[in-house]
Amino acid sequence: MSNLNIQKLRNETPGTKHVIHFNNAGASLMPQPVMDAVTEYYTHELKYGGYETMDKLGHRLEALHQNIAHLINCNKNEVAFATSATIAWNLAFHSIDFSEGDEVLVSVAEYVSNYLNLLQFEKQKGIKIKVVPNNEYGEVDVDALRKMINRNSKLIAITHVPTNGGLVNPAVEIGKVAKEKHVLYLLDACQSVGQLKIDVKEIGCDFLAATGRKYMRAPRGTGFLFVRKEIIDKLEPPLLDFHSADWISETEYVLREGALRFERFEESFAAKAGLATATKYILDLGIENIEARVYELATYMRIKLSELDGVEVHDLGHNPCGIVTFTKQGIEPDVMRNSLYMANINTTVAFKQGALIDMKKRNLQSLLRASIHYYNTHEEIDALLYEVSKFKK
Ligand SMILES: Cc1ncc(COP(=O)(O)O)c(C=O)c1O
Repeated sequence: MSNLNIQKLRNETPGTKHVIHFNNAGASLMPQPVMDAVTEYYTHELKYGGYETMDKLGHRLEALHQNIAHLINCNKNEVAFATSATIAWNLAFHSIDFSEGDEVLVSVAEYVSNYLNLLQFEKQKGIKIKVVPNNEYGEVDVDALRKMINRNSKLIAITHVPTNGGLVNPAVEIGKVAKEKHVLYLLDACQSVGQLKIDVKEIGCDFLAATGRKYMRAPRGTGFLFVRKEIIDKLEPPLLDFHSADWISETEYVLREGALRFERFEESFAAKAGLATATKYILDLGIENIEARVYELATYMRIKLSELDGVEVHDLGHNPCGIVTFTKQGIEPDVMRNSLYMANINTTVAFKQGALIDMKKRNLQSLLRASIHYYNTHEEIDALLYEVSKFKK
Protein backbone atom coordinates (compact mmCIF):
# COMPACT_ATOMS: atom_id res chain seq x y z
CA MET A 1 0.00 0.00 0.00
CA SER A 2 1.19 3.54 -0.69
CA ASN A 3 1.05 6.46 1.75
CA LEU A 4 -0.85 8.75 -0.57
CA ASN A 5 -4.24 10.21 0.23
CA ILE A 6 -5.78 9.26 -3.08
CA GLN A 7 -9.16 10.90 -2.49
CA LYS A 8 -7.51 14.22 -1.67
CA LEU A 9 -5.29 13.95 -4.74
CA ARG A 10 -8.29 13.16 -6.92
CA ASN A 11 -10.13 16.15 -5.49
CA GLU A 12 -7.17 18.25 -6.61
CA THR A 13 -7.39 16.71 -10.09
CA PRO A 14 -10.51 18.09 -11.81
CA GLY A 15 -10.11 15.71 -14.75
CA THR A 16 -10.89 12.69 -12.57
CA LYS A 17 -14.51 13.94 -12.33
CA HIS A 18 -14.89 13.77 -16.09
CA VAL A 19 -12.90 10.81 -17.38
CA ILE A 20 -11.16 7.61 -16.42
CA HIS A 21 -7.73 8.56 -17.59
CA PHE A 22 -5.33 5.76 -18.52
CA ASN A 23 -3.34 7.85 -20.96
CA ASN A 24 -0.81 9.15 -18.48
CA ALA A 25 2.09 8.16 -20.71
CA GLY A 26 0.48 10.35 -23.38
CA ALA A 27 -0.28 13.34 -21.19
CA SER A 28 -1.54 12.97 -17.64
CA LEU A 29 -4.22 15.05 -15.92
CA MET A 30 -2.77 18.21 -14.39
CA PRO A 31 -3.47 18.88 -10.73
CA GLN A 32 -5.25 22.14 -9.93
CA PRO A 33 -2.18 23.80 -8.30
CA VAL A 34 -0.28 23.36 -11.57
CA MET A 35 -3.12 24.94 -13.53
CA ASP A 36 -3.31 27.74 -10.95
CA ALA A 37 0.39 28.51 -11.42
CA VAL A 38 -0.07 28.67 -15.19
CA THR A 39 -3.22 30.80 -15.16
CA GLU A 40 -1.87 33.14 -12.53
CA TYR A 41 1.20 33.77 -14.65
CA TYR A 42 -0.83 34.27 -17.83
CA THR A 43 -3.32 36.49 -16.02
CA HIS A 44 -0.49 38.72 -14.88
CA GLU A 45 0.81 38.87 -18.46
CA LEU A 46 -2.68 39.72 -19.65
CA LYS A 47 -2.95 42.60 -17.19
CA TYR A 48 0.56 43.99 -17.07
CA GLY A 49 2.48 42.72 -20.12
CA GLY A 50 4.89 39.85 -20.71
CA TYR A 51 8.20 41.53 -19.91
CA GLU A 52 6.77 43.36 -16.91
CA THR A 53 5.40 40.06 -15.58
CA MET A 54 8.86 38.59 -15.92
CA ASP A 55 10.17 41.38 -13.67
CA LYS A 56 7.45 40.78 -11.14
CA LEU A 57 6.99 36.98 -11.13
CA GLY A 58 10.22 35.80 -12.74
CA HIS A 59 11.60 34.86 -9.32
CA ARG A 60 8.98 32.10 -9.11
CA LEU A 61 10.62 30.38 -12.04
CA GLU A 62 13.91 30.27 -10.19
CA ALA A 63 12.54 27.31 -8.23
CA LEU A 64 12.24 25.32 -11.46
CA HIS A 65 15.84 24.19 -11.75
CA GLN A 66 16.18 23.58 -8.03
CA ASN A 67 13.02 21.46 -7.87
CA ILE A 68 14.11 19.31 -10.81
CA ALA A 69 17.57 18.99 -9.27
CA HIS A 70 15.98 17.65 -6.07
CA LEU A 71 13.85 15.23 -8.02
CA ILE A 72 16.71 13.63 -9.96
CA ASN A 73 19.52 14.24 -7.44
CA CYS A 74 21.77 16.67 -9.22
CA ASN A 75 22.87 20.28 -9.03
CA LYS A 76 20.54 22.98 -10.36
CA ASN A 77 23.29 24.14 -12.72
CA GLU A 78 23.06 20.76 -14.43
CA VAL A 79 19.43 21.31 -15.47
CA ALA A 80 18.18 23.09 -18.59
CA PHE A 81 14.52 23.72 -19.40
CA ALA A 82 13.42 22.28 -22.76
CA THR A 83 10.05 22.26 -24.48
CA SER A 84 9.92 18.48 -24.91
CA ALA A 85 11.93 15.31 -24.40
CA THR A 86 12.73 15.22 -28.11
CA ILE A 87 14.21 18.72 -27.96
CA ALA A 88 16.14 17.86 -24.79
CA TRP A 89 17.47 14.64 -26.34
CA ASN A 90 18.51 16.47 -29.50
CA LEU A 91 20.21 19.31 -27.64
CA ALA A 92 22.39 16.66 -26.03
CA PHE A 93 22.86 14.58 -29.17
CA HIS A 94 23.74 17.54 -31.39
CA SER A 95 26.27 18.85 -28.90
CA ILE A 96 28.39 15.71 -29.26
CA ASP A 97 31.23 16.09 -31.71
CA PHE A 98 30.61 13.05 -33.94
CA SER A 99 33.02 11.98 -36.68
CA GLU A 100 32.65 9.41 -39.42
CA GLY A 101 32.78 5.88 -38.04
CA ASP A 102 31.70 6.82 -34.50
CA GLU A 103 29.29 4.29 -33.10
CA VAL A 104 26.12 4.86 -31.11
CA LEU A 105 24.74 1.94 -29.12
CA VAL A 106 20.97 1.93 -28.72
CA SER A 107 18.27 -0.29 -27.24
CA VAL A 108 15.85 -2.46 -29.20
CA ALA A 109 13.03 -0.36 -27.71
CA GLU A 110 14.38 2.92 -29.12
CA TYR A 111 11.82 5.67 -29.67
CA VAL A 112 10.99 6.84 -33.18
CA SER A 113 12.05 10.48 -32.79
CA ASN A 114 15.44 9.55 -31.32
CA TYR A 115 16.05 7.00 -34.05
CA LEU A 116 15.15 9.43 -36.84
CA ASN A 117 17.93 11.73 -35.67
CA LEU A 118 20.36 8.83 -35.43
CA LEU A 119 19.52 7.91 -39.02
CA GLN A 120 19.99 11.51 -40.11
CA PHE A 121 23.48 11.57 -38.55
CA GLU A 122 24.23 8.23 -40.16
CA LYS A 123 23.45 9.88 -43.51
CA GLN A 124 25.07 13.25 -42.81
CA LYS A 125 28.04 12.34 -40.63
CA GLY A 126 28.65 8.65 -41.25
CA ILE A 127 28.00 7.50 -37.69
CA LYS A 128 27.04 3.84 -37.15
CA ILE A 129 23.99 2.74 -35.18
CA LYS A 130 24.35 -0.50 -33.25
CA VAL A 131 21.34 -2.08 -31.62
CA VAL A 132 22.15 -3.89 -28.38
CA PRO A 133 20.14 -7.14 -28.13
CA ASN A 134 17.76 -7.85 -25.27
CA ASN A 135 18.25 -10.43 -22.52
CA GLU A 136 15.70 -13.17 -21.81
CA TYR A 137 13.43 -10.65 -20.02
CA GLY A 138 13.35 -8.31 -23.01
CA GLU A 139 15.63 -5.76 -21.31
CA VAL A 140 18.89 -4.39 -22.69
CA ASP A 141 21.46 -7.18 -22.32
CA VAL A 142 24.17 -5.43 -20.33
CA ASP A 143 26.82 -8.10 -21.00
CA ALA A 144 26.16 -7.87 -24.72
CA LEU A 145 26.47 -4.09 -24.47
CA ARG A 146 29.84 -4.42 -22.74
CA LYS A 147 31.10 -6.75 -25.48
CA MET A 148 29.88 -4.48 -28.28
CA ILE A 149 31.86 -1.48 -27.08
CA ASN A 150 35.05 -0.79 -28.98
CA ARG A 151 37.28 2.22 -29.55
CA ASN A 152 34.76 3.72 -32.01
CA SER A 153 31.95 3.71 -29.47
CA LYS A 154 31.03 7.31 -28.78
CA LEU A 155 27.61 7.20 -27.18
CA ILE A 156 25.21 4.85 -25.44
CA ALA A 157 21.70 6.22 -26.10
CA ILE A 158 19.10 4.18 -24.28
CA THR A 159 15.36 4.53 -23.77
CA HIS A 160 14.63 3.88 -20.11
CA VAL A 161 10.92 3.09 -20.48
CA PRO A 162 9.69 2.75 -24.06
CA THR A 163 6.59 4.19 -25.66
CA ASN A 164 5.08 0.75 -26.20
CA GLY A 165 5.12 -1.01 -22.85
CA GLY A 166 6.05 -1.30 -19.21
CA LEU A 167 9.63 -2.37 -19.81
CA VAL A 168 12.17 -0.67 -17.54
CA ASN A 169 15.64 -0.94 -18.98
CA PRO A 170 18.50 -1.46 -16.50
CA ALA A 171 19.68 2.15 -16.49
CA VAL A 172 22.04 1.76 -13.52
CA GLU A 173 23.78 -1.33 -14.90
CA ILE A 174 24.16 0.39 -18.26
CA GLY A 175 25.68 3.38 -16.46
CA LYS A 176 28.32 1.13 -14.91
CA VAL A 177 29.35 -0.08 -18.35
CA ALA A 178 29.44 3.48 -19.71
CA LYS A 179 31.71 4.54 -16.87
CA GLU A 180 33.96 1.49 -17.09
CA LYS A 181 34.39 1.97 -20.86
CA HIS A 182 34.47 5.80 -20.86
CA VAL A 183 31.57 6.14 -23.29
CA LEU A 184 29.05 8.99 -23.10
CA TYR A 185 25.63 7.92 -21.86
CA LEU A 186 22.33 9.62 -22.85
CA LEU A 187 19.22 8.31 -21.14
CA ASP A 188 15.77 9.00 -22.56
CA ALA A 189 13.76 9.12 -19.34
CA CYS A 190 10.70 10.65 -20.97
CA GLN A 191 8.38 7.91 -19.74
CA SER A 192 9.99 7.33 -16.35
CA VAL A 193 10.50 10.72 -14.68
CA GLY A 194 7.57 11.33 -12.32
CA GLN A 195 6.68 7.65 -12.21
CA LEU A 196 9.91 5.99 -11.04
CA LYS A 197 12.67 7.17 -8.73
CA ILE A 198 15.40 8.66 -10.88
CA ASP A 199 18.80 9.37 -9.39
CA VAL A 200 21.26 10.55 -12.01
CA LYS A 201 24.19 9.97 -9.69
CA GLU A 202 23.20 6.36 -9.18
CA ILE A 203 22.44 5.90 -12.88
CA GLY A 204 25.70 7.55 -13.89
CA CYS A 205 24.34 9.09 -17.09
CA ASP A 206 25.94 12.11 -18.75
CA PHE A 207 22.64 13.35 -20.16
CA LEU A 208 19.01 12.69 -19.32
CA ALA A 209 16.04 13.89 -21.36
CA ALA A 210 12.51 14.20 -19.94
CA THR A 211 9.13 15.68 -20.70
CA GLY A 212 6.71 17.49 -18.42
CA ARG A 213 3.28 16.51 -19.69
CA LYS A 214 3.50 12.77 -18.98
CA TYR A 215 4.21 11.39 -15.52
CA MET A 216 5.25 14.79 -14.16
CA ARG A 217 1.71 16.14 -14.65
CA ALA A 218 3.02 19.45 -15.98
CA PRO A 219 1.58 21.47 -18.89
CA ARG A 220 2.30 20.50 -22.47
CA GLY A 221 5.34 22.12 -24.05
CA THR A 222 7.60 21.52 -21.07
CA GLY A 223 10.53 19.23 -20.37
CA PHE A 224 14.14 19.32 -19.32
CA LEU A 225 17.65 18.17 -20.03
CA PHE A 226 20.17 17.09 -17.39
CA VAL A 227 23.84 17.41 -18.31
CA ARG A 228 26.55 16.18 -15.92
CA LYS A 229 28.64 19.13 -14.76
CA GLU A 230 31.98 17.46 -15.49
CA ILE A 231 31.23 17.47 -19.23
CA ILE A 232 29.29 20.72 -19.68
CA ASP A 233 32.35 22.85 -20.37
CA LYS A 234 33.35 20.58 -23.24
CA LEU A 235 29.99 20.89 -24.98
CA GLU A 236 28.95 23.36 -27.65
CA PRO A 237 25.14 23.54 -27.80
CA PRO A 238 23.72 23.38 -31.34
CA LEU A 239 21.63 26.53 -30.94
CA LEU A 240 22.57 29.79 -29.22
CA ASP A 241 20.83 32.98 -28.19
CA PHE A 242 21.60 35.75 -25.70
CA HIS A 243 20.23 33.62 -22.87
CA SER A 244 22.69 30.78 -23.56
CA ALA A 245 25.73 32.88 -24.48
CA ASP A 246 27.22 36.37 -24.17
CA TRP A 247 28.21 38.34 -27.25
CA ILE A 248 31.39 40.02 -26.11
CA SER A 249 32.96 41.37 -29.32
CA GLU A 250 32.52 41.27 -33.11
CA THR A 251 34.41 37.99 -33.21
CA GLU A 252 33.69 36.35 -29.87
CA TYR A 253 31.03 34.89 -27.67
CA VAL A 254 31.17 33.16 -24.32
CA LEU A 255 28.83 30.35 -23.39
CA ARG A 256 26.94 30.58 -20.11
CA GLU A 257 28.12 28.59 -17.14
CA GLY A 258 26.35 25.29 -16.54
CA ALA A 259 23.39 23.80 -18.38
CA LEU A 260 21.88 27.25 -19.01
CA ARG A 261 23.87 27.24 -22.23
CA PHE A 262 21.30 24.72 -23.51
CA GLU A 263 18.33 27.00 -22.86
CA ARG A 264 16.62 29.68 -24.89
CA PHE A 265 15.26 33.05 -23.84
CA GLU A 266 11.85 32.75 -25.42
CA GLU A 267 9.64 30.03 -23.99
CA SER A 268 6.25 30.02 -22.35
CA PHE A 269 7.03 31.42 -18.93
CA ALA A 270 3.61 30.36 -17.74
CA ALA A 271 4.33 26.77 -18.76
CA LYS A 272 7.65 26.98 -16.93
CA ALA A 273 5.80 28.12 -13.82
CA GLY A 274 3.56 25.07 -14.29
CA LEU A 275 6.53 22.71 -14.54
CA ALA A 276 8.08 24.23 -11.42
CA THR A 277 4.85 23.64 -9.50
CA ALA A 278 4.35 20.15 -10.92
CA THR A 279 7.85 19.18 -9.81
CA LYS A 280 7.22 20.55 -6.33
CA TYR A 281 3.99 18.58 -6.24
CA ILE A 282 5.93 15.36 -6.91
CA LEU A 283 8.51 16.25 -4.26
CA ASP A 284 5.77 16.88 -1.70
CA LEU A 285 4.11 13.53 -2.40
CA GLY A 286 7.40 11.63 -2.48
CA ILE A 287 8.45 9.80 -5.60
CA GLU A 288 8.79 6.54 -3.61
CA ASN A 289 5.09 6.77 -2.68
CA ILE A 290 4.16 7.52 -6.29
CA GLU A 291 6.20 4.61 -7.61
CA ALA A 292 4.74 2.18 -5.06
CA ARG A 293 1.18 3.18 -5.93
CA VAL A 294 1.78 3.00 -9.69
CA TYR A 295 3.29 -0.49 -9.36
CA GLU A 296 0.46 -1.68 -7.15
CA LEU A 297 -2.20 -0.55 -9.63
CA ALA A 298 -0.32 -1.75 -12.71
CA THR A 299 0.23 -5.18 -11.20
CA TYR A 300 -3.47 -5.41 -10.41
CA MET A 301 -4.39 -4.40 -13.96
CA ARG A 302 -2.00 -6.91 -15.53
CA ILE A 303 -3.19 -9.80 -13.36
CA LYS A 304 -6.86 -9.04 -14.03
CA LEU A 305 -6.34 -8.50 -17.76
CA SER A 306 -4.54 -11.84 -18.06
CA GLU A 307 -7.59 -13.54 -16.56
CA LEU A 308 -9.85 -12.25 -19.36
CA ASP A 309 -10.67 -14.50 -22.30
CA GLY A 310 -8.48 -13.85 -25.35
CA VAL A 311 -6.48 -11.05 -23.71
CA GLU A 312 -2.71 -11.09 -23.86
CA VAL A 313 -0.53 -8.68 -21.87
CA HIS A 314 2.63 -7.77 -23.76
CA ASP A 315 4.87 -5.85 -21.37
CA LEU A 316 8.50 -6.88 -21.28
CA GLY A 317 11.00 -6.84 -18.44
CA HIS A 318 11.16 -8.62 -15.11
CA ASN A 319 9.48 -5.72 -13.26
CA PRO A 320 7.25 -3.72 -15.66
CA CYS A 321 6.09 -0.27 -14.55
CA GLY A 322 2.83 1.67 -14.95
CA ILE A 323 2.50 1.33 -18.72
CA VAL A 324 0.31 -1.66 -19.51
CA THR A 325 -0.02 -2.94 -23.06
CA PHE A 326 -2.31 -5.67 -24.28
CA THR A 327 -4.24 -7.13 -27.18
CA LYS A 328 -7.50 -9.01 -27.42
CA GLN A 329 -7.86 -11.78 -29.92
CA GLY A 330 -9.87 -10.76 -32.98
CA ILE A 331 -10.27 -7.05 -32.04
CA GLU A 332 -8.03 -4.31 -33.40
CA PRO A 333 -6.48 -2.13 -30.68
CA ASP A 334 -7.79 1.06 -32.31
CA VAL A 335 -11.34 -0.33 -32.28
CA MET A 336 -10.95 -1.06 -28.57
CA ARG A 337 -9.46 2.37 -27.98
CA ASN A 338 -12.38 4.09 -29.69
CA SER A 339 -15.01 2.08 -27.82
CA LEU A 340 -13.28 2.76 -24.51
CA TYR A 341 -13.20 6.43 -25.40
CA MET A 342 -16.95 6.35 -26.00
CA ALA A 343 -17.25 4.83 -22.52
CA ASN A 344 -15.26 7.77 -21.12
CA ILE A 345 -12.10 5.73 -20.61
CA ASN A 346 -8.94 7.20 -22.11
CA THR A 347 -6.29 4.83 -23.46
CA THR A 348 -4.15 4.99 -26.56
CA VAL A 349 -2.75 2.77 -29.28
CA ALA A 350 0.98 2.11 -29.47
CA PHE A 351 1.71 1.76 -33.17
CA LYS A 352 4.50 -0.18 -34.82
CA GLN A 353 6.26 3.03 -35.99
CA GLY A 354 6.71 4.28 -32.41
CA ALA A 355 9.29 1.62 -31.66
CA LEU A 356 9.81 -0.07 -35.01
CA ILE A 357 12.71 -2.37 -34.15
CA ASP A 358 11.01 -3.79 -31.10
CA MET A 359 7.56 -4.13 -32.69
CA LYS A 360 9.00 -5.90 -35.74
CA LYS A 361 10.99 -8.27 -33.54
CA ARG A 362 7.85 -9.19 -31.65
CA ASN A 363 5.77 -9.30 -34.81
CA LEU A 364 3.32 -6.73 -33.49
CA GLN A 365 1.37 -4.15 -35.49
CA SER A 366 -0.16 -2.25 -32.59
CA LEU A 367 -1.04 -2.59 -28.94
CA LEU A 368 -3.63 -1.05 -26.69
CA ARG A 369 -1.81 1.02 -24.07
CA ALA A 370 -3.34 1.81 -20.69
CA SER A 371 -0.89 3.86 -18.67
CA ILE A 372 -1.61 4.22 -14.98
CA HIS A 373 -0.84 7.04 -12.57
CA TYR A 374 -1.15 7.14 -8.81
CA TYR A 375 -4.48 8.99 -8.90
CA ASN A 376 -6.15 6.12 -10.75
CA THR A 377 -8.14 3.65 -8.66
CA HIS A 378 -8.94 -0.05 -8.56
CA GLU A 379 -12.54 0.86 -9.42
CA GLU A 380 -11.39 2.64 -12.58
CA ILE A 381 -9.35 -0.40 -13.53
CA ASP A 382 -12.39 -2.61 -12.93
CA ALA A 383 -14.38 -0.35 -15.28
CA LEU A 384 -11.78 -0.82 -18.00
CA LEU A 385 -11.69 -4.57 -17.41
CA TYR A 386 -15.46 -4.73 -17.72
CA GLU A 387 -15.41 -2.90 -21.07
CA VAL A 388 -12.55 -5.06 -22.37
CA SER A 389 -14.37 -8.23 -21.32
CA LYS A 390 -17.39 -7.15 -23.42
CA PHE A 391 -15.47 -6.81 -26.69
CA LYS A 392 -16.43 -9.62 -29.02
CA LYS A 393 -15.02 -10.53 -32.44
C1 LIG B 1 10.29 6.80 -25.04
C2 LIG B 1 9.95 8.17 -25.50
N1 LIG B 1 10.93 9.05 -25.75
C3 LIG B 1 10.67 10.29 -26.17
C4 LIG B 1 9.40 10.71 -26.39
C5 LIG B 1 9.17 12.09 -26.94
O1 LIG B 1 8.67 12.96 -25.99
P1 LIG B 1 8.22 14.42 -26.44
O2 LIG B 1 6.95 14.26 -27.19
O3 LIG B 1 8.08 15.18 -25.15
O4 LIG B 1 9.29 14.96 -27.29
C6 LIG B 1 8.34 9.84 -26.16
C7 LIG B 1 6.95 10.30 -26.38
O5 LIG B 1 6.00 9.59 -26.38
C8 LIG B 1 8.62 8.53 -25.70
O6 LIG B 1 7.64 7.66 -25.50
